[in-house]
Amino acid sequence: MKIVSVIGARPQFIKYAILSRELRMSHQDVLIHTGQHYDYNMNKVFFDEMGIPAPDYNLGIGSGTHAHQTADMLKGIEDVLVKEKPDLVMVYGDTNSTLAGALAAAKIHIKVAHVEAGLRSFDRAMPEELNRIITDHCSDYLFCPTQTAVNNLRNEGLADKALLTGDVMVDALNHYKGVAEKSGILEKLSLAECSYTVVTLHRASNTDVRENMENIAEALIELGGLGQNLVFPIHPRTEKLLWNSSIYSKLKSSVKIIEPLGYFDFLKLLNHAGKVLTDSGGIQKEAYILKVPCITLRENTEWVETVEEGWNVLAGTDKERIIALARSFRPENKQRDVFGNGACRIIAANLISHQM
Ligand code: UD1
Ligand code: UDP
Repeated sequence: MKIVSVIGARPQFIKYAILSRELRMSHQDVLIHTGQHYDYNMNKVFFDEMGIPAPDYNLGIGSGTHAHQTADMLKGIEDVLVKEKPDLVMVYGDTNSTLAGALAAAKIHIKVAHVEAGLRSFDRAMPEELNRIITDHCSDYLFCPTQTAVNNLRNEGLADKALLTGDVMVDALNHYKGVAEKSGILEKLSLAECSYTVVTLHRASNTDVRENMENIAEALIELGGLGQNLVFPIHPRTEKLLWNSSIYSKLKSSVKIIEPLGYFDFLKLLNHAGKVLTDSGGIQKEAYILKVPCITLRENTEWVETVEEGWNVLAGTDKERIIALARSFRPENKQRDVFGNGACRIIAANLISHQM
């Protein structure tokens, strides 16, 4: 069948990397890049490293408010869909690019498949939660990474469209872990294995709320003062917001702040870290799979299994709680396999069985 895939942000490039290969074995796959992420190290580095096919259409939308960005994407995606007339549109994850792809297609009666469907944080203040809910309810095929996601969809009356496939990021991690090990990032940053903590931060609830951002920054500064070696590949959103803050220079002297990394360097850095402090969705999963203790700088998570299994803990934005957990959190439990294996193949095979 003829598929149009819509991607635009860093984690979507990683989700698409292996799935695109499976799709292209039995289907025609036309790629739309919305242009939501555009800096070299938020965008092209992933295409180059993982050999992701060049987009057939790059809409070049870039940054903007939610409404402006999503509206521009809707217009651009609709134009392509009218021209390409695909049988199916595939969308990935929970960004504004996901929402725009699903809505543009559903409105003109093109079937939609959502990869990473059914996740819920039950926090509607989170822009991604609205994107997830609306995307799932516009979609015809809901490919779920976890059993919890399937259960969430059942509770919303969507059980007949849901399929448990496992998580596509597991496939990327398994495929690239070996080559990532060859990265020289530890030598470049003079880091010894297990001697450091990785930090990532970009959620709106942390970056756009001054008090939360300052609490987290103060916790990091104090941890640095206590001798923890913190490495922080900083998201451009976070850097721009910290730039004008008086705390930035203090943070820079306590924490190793570096540019966002390519996937291979990041996987190597994470794999050998003592722990990770993050508000990222994808990194909570990767930390679990790589058995790196994860302290999540959020009040909730959609990746509940990582917490239930004892390898992730929700620290929120309370300074003292972050410091205490960063010093003491040591998972003891054995892990269950909660993210499956081979999701990309399962998804591509399922689409063949639904050929229109
Ligand atoms: C987006 C997604 C989020 C996802 C994250 C992955 C939405 C609502 N949010 O958040 O779910 O977890 O991507 O990283 O879709 N910027 C640059 N260069 C870039 C990209 C962004 O400088 O290449 C800066 C711009 O100032 C921009 C800001 O980052 O305004 C935010 O970018 P945006 O794509 O709107 O949201 P993210 O925070 O990246
Ligand atoms: N990642 C990366 N370089 C970095 C930080 C993250 O390659 O400097 C990868 C990480 O391995 C994961 C994905 O980006 O696969 C997570 O993306 P992000 O945290 O931006 O978004 P989220 O998962 O929260 O939507």
